[in-house]
Amino acid sequence: MQTVPANEINDAAPTALSHLIGQRSVVDQVKVALDAANQDNLPFPSTLAVGPAGCGKTQVAKVIAQEMGADFHEVLGQAIANAADFNALLLGAKDRDVVLIDEAHELEREYQTSLFLAIDQKRIFLQGVRSGRAPQSIPLADFTLLLATTDEFRLLQPLRDRMKLALRFEFYTEQELAELLRQRSRALKWKVADRIYHRIAQRSRGVPRLALRLLQACRRVCRSEGEQTIAVAHLERACQLEQIDALGLGPPEQAYLGILADGTSRLNVIASRLGLPARTVSEVYEPYLLRAGLIVKDDDSMRQLTAEGREHLSNSRKNGV
Ligand SMILES: Nc1ncnc2c1ncn2[C@@H]1O[C@H](COP(=O)(O)OP(=O)(O)O)[C@@H](O)[C@H]1O
Ligand SMILES: [Mg+2]
Repeated sequence: MQTVPANEINDAAPTALSHLIGQRSVVDQVKVALDAANQDNLPFPSTLAVGPAGCGKTQVAKVIAQEMGADFHEVLGQAIANAADFNALLLGAKDRDVVLIDEAHELEREYQTSLFLAIDQKRIFLQGVRSGRAPQSIPLADFTLLLATTDEFRLLQPLRDRMKLALRFEFYTEQELAELLRQRSRALKWKVADRIYHRIAQRSRGVPRLALRLLQACRRVCRSEGEQTIAVAHLERACQLEQIDALGLGPPEQAYLGILADGTSRLNVIASRLGLPARTVSEVYEPYLLRAGLIVKDDDSMRQLTAEGREHLSNSRKNGV
């Protein structure tokens, strides 16, 4: 399909279950469900895919469609703005097709309700245009519904309950990310110095999307210098350009840690010094800092650096980014 080497990281995404790296429990669950569906000549069961952004929910949904030999339809929850969008999505799917509603928690409650009713009845009810007429109903094909979300508790319980399978995605280990990068580079026919993979993995917070993006940034630097093999110097330059430090922290997180260097601080104070809404700080920036053990917070909304956080900060100040 592509002339080699391909330029875009997503030109070589996995197309089969056996190509997926890590995420053992998800892959095992999918394998069993695929085997059972094939044995009984049934569609893949309705599935909820839950987990952090960039960890493979869409990727697994596509692989399921490919393994089923089925067409794949994808829509964002927030893109379903009216009944016509909703009906078109469900009525557009044929038997065995895989329909992924991504960011399903963004689907308005009204459509979440219509969705579980549609699943129960295997048909959708079109509202009577003229009052007094009974609503018309249309049978639905036997397709597979996949709902992907970062926050399952924002889905209506009855909708969640109707999903037969729940796939829970986890962050990846550095080992897995390094392997994923190696596999992707091979598939793209990119030449990469082997030492790079781990260094990128260390800066990717357990998230394949971040790892692949950084690999792509390295490739850009490499090609801009007219070179063929991605080397450590290209990674260093890419990190410098993107202002990413040794743990993959960007400027807002670095500034966050800098504020705590002066002592314990409240979320609101940190947020106002960063010029960001408190919610953005707590939902976007803090989860990784907490997970990496760089900060701790108490119930009273106070934040402070851990010993690791202090060490990371002083190393970064010594070495630049
Ligand atoms: N297990 C995996 N093996 C190989 N590549 C993966 C894996 N999980 C994710 N990826 C790749 O990481 C990127 C982000 O994955 P994606 O499915 O878009 O994440 P999500 O939908 O959870 O936000 C994609 O390029 C995808 O191909
Ligand atoms: Mg996705």
